[in-house]
Amino acid sequence: MPQITFITADGTHRTVDARNGDSVMQTAIKNGIPGIDADCGGACACATCHVYVDESWKDRVNKVGDMEASMLDFAQVVLPNSRLSCQLQVVEALDGLVVAIPESQH
Ligand code: FES
Repeated sequence: MPQITFITADGTHRTVDARNGDSVMQTAIKNGIPGIDADCGGACACATCHVYVDESWKDRVNKVGDMEASMLDFAQVVLPNSRLSCQLQVVEALDGLVVAIPESQH
């Protein structure tokens, strides 16, 4: 079972078990990680599940799709490692993934 570490805006690290096939957003919500709003429920239509993928993992997660790239325009403080966590699919190879949550989703 892959584990994902979330770094919340106040610097707290929380490592949780993730289920293959879930999204990183679903993993956060299921584990009560604060700071991911996910207003659209994972439909790639709100950009309130914005996270920063740790640089060492940036090239190992699935690629940014066209819809995600468009929606990222609506996120706050977008950086090269910005992703919408509902579009990051959990697979075994992502065991150890680290993502940081921005200060605000709005
Ligand atoms: Fe809305 Fe990810 S949950 S875009």
